Amino acid sequence: MNIQVAPSILSADFGRLNEEIKEVEPYSDRLHYDVMDGHFVPNISFGAPVMKWIKTKLPIDVHLMIEHPWDFFEDFVKAGADTLIVHAEACKDLKGVLGTIRDLGVKNGVSVRPKTGVEVLEGVLEMVDQILIMTVEPGFGGQKFMKDMMPKIRQLRDLGYDGDISVDGGIDDKTARICREAGANIMIAGTYIFESDDRSVAIANLKNC
Ligand code: DX5
Ligand code: ZN
Repeated sequence: MNIQVAPSILSADFGRLNEEIKEVEPYSDRLHYDVMDGHFVPNISFGAPVMKWIKTKLPIDVHLMIEHPWDFFEDFVKAGADTLIVHAEACKDLKGVLGTIRDLGVKNGVSVRPKTGVEVLEGVLEMVDQILIMTVEPGFGGQKFMKDMMPKIRQLRDLGYDGDISVDGGIDDKTARICREAGANIMIAGTYIFESDDRSVAIANLKNC
């Protein structure tokens, strides 16, 4: 399976955000944009107003770690999002929410926290573009990869899901390989890419994991 790499700009230097993005752009497949509201997760990051300033040719995946994500869909679409990823735990009517995203003309995605099983996704597998498996507790970069999330990826592939499966949290050259072997095809990484001396090498290591 072709592996895609999505740098998570949460770990980038925001004082020079567009330069940071320019540096990873030639080697990356997409950008990962982490939105946090201080309620769904114990941290606050950035919203659509910051996204408007991003200059990139890469598709942007917006990971919404927020409550009532639907309140902000239109803002993110206007700001340039290509995929809106909600958390299953934040959506009572997941099917309806994923449908709303597609109706806005962008791709949809759904993420699960470590404690949430993928059974909650069984009814939506036919209508979801990207499933994001959290491999750390959402909220912060730089945490330790949870290997015990791998059975979820296998379970999704066994259920016949053939869309994109991304992994997010603690991804480096070694953990990416474990995720690829389990069936994931999008590697999201913040610390590993932005804190490496040579980001092109770090991205290549993920692509060839
Ligand atoms: C965590 C975020 C991740 C984060 C990953 O809640 O969803 O995207 O940036 O960071 P690293 O790669 O540092 O674990
Ligand atoms: Zn994320």
